[in-house]
Amino acid sequence: MSEAKPNALVTGASRGIGAEIAKHLARSGHLVWVNYQSNKERAEQVVSEITALGGSAKSIQFNVSVSSEVDAAFDEIAKTHGPLTTLVNNAGITIDGLLLRLKDEDLEKTLSVDLKGAIFCTRAAAKQMIRKRQGSIIQISSVVGEMGNAGQAAYAAAKAGLIGFSKSVAKELASRRVRVNVVTPGFISTEMTESLTDVQKEAILRGIPLGFFGSPADVAALVSFLASPASQYITGEVIGVSGGMYI
Ligand SMILES: NC(=O)c1ccc[n+]([C@@H]2O[C@H](COP(=O)([O-])OP(=O)(O)OC[C@H]3O[C@@H](n4cnc5c(N)ncnc54)[C@H](OP(=O)(O)O)[C@@H]3O)[C@@H](O)[C@H]2O)c1
Repeated sequence: MSEAKPNALVTGASRGIGAEIAKHLARSGHLVWVNYQSNKERAEQVVSEITALGGSAKSIQFNVSVSSEVDAAFDEIAKTHGPLTTLVNNAGITIDGLLLRLKDEDLEKTLSVDLKGAIFCTRAAAKQMIRKRQGSIIQISSVVGEMGNAGQAAYAAAKAGLIGFSKSVAKELASRRVRVNVVTPGFISTEMTESLTDVQKEAILRGIPLGFFGSPADVAALVSFLASPASQYITGEVIGVSGGMYI
């Protein structure tokens, strides 16, 4: 078992923001576990891109919303490379629709992946990190969890829940030197936002003071900082990457 490199897990890292975070963390010297749910090929592609640049990465399949799968995966990570140093809870889905048309199963699915999934992973990581008395847990929430958004009530509930959860856990884990912070991206161009029409995109753009959409690299740069010792005195914070969308 080698413990030489710090050990980072990024959930939902087969594409979009998660894939970019995985690449940034690998560049800063982490061995990165690239989690995916269904898209093995895309996850392996992220691993190949990292290793081609001299970094270290491994793919790992599990569904964040199934606690037994989460616990088994975290045990496997600890056995093969020692306790995790960094966890990034990035996996997320959005099922948009107005409240009056919200189906029970869509509410359940959204809360299961976006909120419960992050809670299961945080609990499993905390067990490893408190023993080592070191760790950084970073939650990828959303500005929608802070400001609300018509048509995204379930998603907003999950992302706002993540903020209250993280502040509580930050207080619980601080004495063990485990930090917990929340990143709230605004509009970041990924496959998740591709389905929006040009009219919808123009309307969103009018609400962004900086006047342009963000990129996965904008989020990954902040996550890298929060994973590094340079942020050792920062915990329990909610930090936006939104071009001023929510001030
Ligand atoms: N894009 C934005 O504008 C924006 C804004 C604010 C917040 N965010 C948040 O940022 C995060 C990433 O967003 P994105 O735009 O990069 O999303 P994306 O392109 O849709 O990618 C989602 C990722 O999550 C994974 N995933 C989904 N369900 C999962 C599950 N049950 N278990 C494990 N992995 C699962 C997917 O894996 P598979 O490929 O295997 O399905 C994929 O890797 C999300 O939490 C999202 O809510 C995004």
